[in-house]
Amino acid sequence: MKQAILTFAILISLSSMAFAETPKVDYPEGYRQWTHIKSMLIEPGHPLENPFQGLHHVYGNDKALQGLNSGAYPDGSVLVFDLLSYKQGGKAIQEEARKLVGVMVKNKNQFKSTGGWGFEGFAGDSKSKRLVRDGGVGCYNCHTSQTKSGFVFSKMRK
Ligand code: HEC
Repeated sequence: MKQAILTFAILISLSSMAFAETPKVDYPEGYRQWTHIKSMLIEPGHPLENPFQGLHHVYGNDKALQGLNSGAYPDGSVLVFDLLSYKQGGKAIQEEARKLVGVMVKNKNQFKSTGGWGFEGFAGDSKSKRLVRDGGVGCYNCHTSQTKSGFVFSKMRK
């Protein structure tokens, strides 16, 4: 019996360790009701073309707005990069289907190795089809150029 309890305890601790090593970034439910920070159109030939060519809007929740203003992002800050296709015609550029939703979630302890930010991408309109395969290292490596602003590129305009 003692041994069974011990085995059980070891299994539990192993599974929680495995879980701790691969923290998941949640789909940012409701982000379209958050604050719009900025937009940008990336044309073919831009260095960010693959995979970010398109029209994107950046959103932040209330905690992320605190970070944008102060430079220090509290845990629970979430930033969203909502990337859409676009069509050009009649001297206008219009939004089309969603390509992906990029997400950054701040949690100092969970995402220590990537600057305290968890990175994820969700394909198209899917809330479950995840795009990041390297724990966010590729995302983070580019975002490190923004160390001074908490690894965030976007600035809040007036
Ligand atoms: C090669 C560089 C590069 C890579 C790789 C990259 N990003 Fe970014 N990311 C940017 C730039 C530049 C912006 C700012 C865009 C703007 O000004 O509208 C940005 C903006 C963002 C934002 C909005 C917050 C901010 O920092 O402005 C999120 C969220 C985001 N990226 C998520 C991701 C995710 C998730 C990945 C990996 C799947 C990723 N990024 C990979 C360059 C990169």
